[in-house]
Amino acid sequence: MVKAYAITADAVAAERARVNDDLDKVDISRVVALDTLELPEVGPTDVHLRILAVSGEHNINHAALADTVNIAHARGGKIYPGNSAVGEVVAVGDQVTKFKPGDIALTHCNGEPDQFGFPRRIWAYDKADSVGWYAEEAVVGEWQLIHAPLDCGLNFWEIAALPLRAPTAYHLWRRGLGIYRVKVTYEQQPTLNVLGFGGGVSELFLMLAKHEGHNAYFCSGSPERRAALEEQGIVGIDQKAFNRFAGRDDIKAFNAEVKNLTAGVGMHIVCDMLRGPVFPAGIACAARQGVNVSAGWQLSKAIDYDSAGASVKQLTLDHTHYETPIGCNAATELYGRVFKPTVHKEIYAFEDLPRSFVEMQENVQTGIPIIRVAKDLPAAVAAIS
Ligand SMILES: NC(=O)c1ccc[n+]([C@@H]2O[C@H](COP(=O)([O-])OP(=O)(O)OC[C@H]3O[C@@H](n4cnc5c(N)ncnc54)[C@H](OP(=O)(O)O)[C@@H]3O)[C@@H](O)[C@H]2O)c1
Repeated sequence: MVKAYAITADAVAAERARVNDDLDKVDISRVVALDTLELPEVGPTDVHLRILAVSGEHNINHAALADTVNIAHARGGKIYPGNSAVGEVVAVGDQVTKFKPGDIALTHCNGEPDQFGFPRRIWAYDKADSVGWYAEEAVVGEWQLIHAPLDCGLNFWEIAALPLRAPTAYHLWRRGLGIYRVKVTYEQQPTLNVLGFGGGVSELFLMLAKHEGHNAYFCSGSPERRAALEEQGIVGIDQKAFNRFAGRDDIKAFNAEVKNLTAGVGMHIVCDMLRGPVFPAGIACAARQGVNVSAGWQLSKAIDYDSAGASVKQLTLDHTHYETPIGCNAATELYGRVFKPTVHKEIYAFEDLPRSFVEMQENVQTGIPIIRVAKDLPAAVAAIS
């Protein structure tokens, strides 16, 4: 038996009843609770991991709030969440070839690749019977692991920030750029204007754009996160100066600011991830032939747009999800070279994991939140911690 966090449908219902379904009042720490879990036997293709650190992922808040789907209820009443982790290999099944005890591994969360590798389901979320990694230990399939690039130049907490968000950003970027290039070739226009709205995935998306020589802009309400990206040459735009796009005038003013920053052209590729009031702002500021990509729906699941207007401007909306396993491996090659994540100033202790999600919901974190699970770290990890 190991300690592991769980979300139950009963806890979701009790908290919703307590706050009378007012989601702004939900206390996520009353929903994400420490539990125990019996690890399965290590099968021939399995790897037994001791979890060292995990990153806080926004889907936990969606699960606790049940704001997009009541996933704990849909999964039979309980989930063990957590789909981004770094662990030490403790034991391997007799058919495992790529890992041995003592190796440090990252997880990916593509829970069920389709014939082209795209996820039908996400591990520890909507994949049936999947058990997550906000736990002291886990048993996972070898196919779900990638060697951690401990020599990439990042510290250990920065590496722990990336297993879920970096592949998502990598996928969004290759899709957005590829679609734009169907319409406008490199020969016609080598340098693009690229915009991302606040959030860890968008930050990494913009690092890719900047690394490839494009003009990158980060529209966020967090001064600390804007300052961190500005150090990497990514221009900050204060989202709160436009009231987070509460009204039409705010969107107009934001569009004017974008046009001012881009010599009247607008943004060729926009990474949204939030939808809700952010979506019309991203559409308004798009350049002709622009592409709007998203793998998230943090503020709203549904969008509404003027199809005729989008046609005239030759805009493309692309809906993506998590990467393929091959793409996850490719994204890992870019740790340190391209991906230099901002990590929240506090590294949370395992017992403080619920508080980390409360603070994520309050939107007060200065970077990606990391939770240290293991008290003692292997020497190779301790050396970069
Ligand atoms: N499909 C996938 O594979 C996938 C993968 C990763 C994430 N996601 C989803 O994508 C979304 C974003 O994920 P993430 O990891 O980038 O999130 P994150 O790092 O937790 O950041 C969320 C950001 O949302 C912004 N925000 C909060 N409240 C807002 C509001 N009212 N209006 C505008 N912006 C607000 C904040 O930015 P500022 O305060 O800085 O503006 C915050 O930094 C989540 O819904 C997540 O579940 C999907």
